[in-house]
Amino acid sequence: MRIIRCKDYADMSRKAANIISAQVIMKPHARLGLATGTTPIGAYQQLIEWYEKGDLDFSEVSTYNLDEYRGLSHDDPQSYHYFMCKNLFDHVNIDLARTHVPDGSDPDAQAACASYDALVKEAGYTDLQLLGIGNNGHIGFNEPDDAFSKGTHCVDLTESTIQANSRLFESIDDVPRQAYTMGVQTIMRARAILVIASGAAKAQAVYDMCFGPVTPRVPASILQLHTNCTVIADEAALGLCS
Ligand code: GLP
Repeated sequence: MRIIRCKDYADMSRKAANIISAQVIMKPHARLGLATGTTPIGAYQQLIEWYEKGDLDFSEVSTYNLDEYRGLSHDDPQSYHYFMCKNLFDHVNIDLARTHVPDGSDPDAQAACASYDALVKEAGYTDLQLLGIGNNGHIGFNEPDDAFSKGTHCVDLTESTIQANSRLFESIDDVPRQAYTMGVQTIMRARAILVIASGAAKAQAVYDMCFGPVTPRVPASILQLHTNCTVIADEAALGLCS
């Protein structure tokens, strides 16, 4: 695990965008694993800026998002699909047919997850997986558990995640209680992983991810076992890592 210390959120975002753009330049048909949440927004804005300057071309890139709320359709403003369009896809020359997000509107959880899993597997998994981290150490929506998850599956969100994510909804009652998420094993198959974290609220999770025991109680801790994982975090998020 490589840890890159950044001054602040802007610095973290620029460095993350640099790594993502290097991947796209080195391999124009790269398969990117993408994340939602507030943390990646700055990196996406930076990518858009470089695209607008003519420095980046997304025309051959394919993307695979980590997760989606169960019960939300693609065009629901709270869905992760909508988030990706608003924060990245609508602003660059990516072919929407090459962008993939689990189908939260499919009520058949097993079928929706199995088909997403097959899609990622058939693609050969991702070249670069971008990850945020939850306050409780979750990645994607893989919550603390007794065992690491494998493929895409339906999860019950924990109260702490529902609480943390409620800031993006009108009221806490609007936050879906379940989500479809790529499993930990699928995430670990990425050739390279880039974790970004910002702010003091993430300090404990970042410490546990980097220096704690590898345990499914802190899903991100398994990233210590990945051979090409980079953590880019600001001073506040690295506050417990001296
Ligand atoms: C959600 C997403 C995660 C994300 C996490 C942290 O739970 N499923 O992929 O990493 O939130 O979000 P934020 O970046 O807003 O702190």
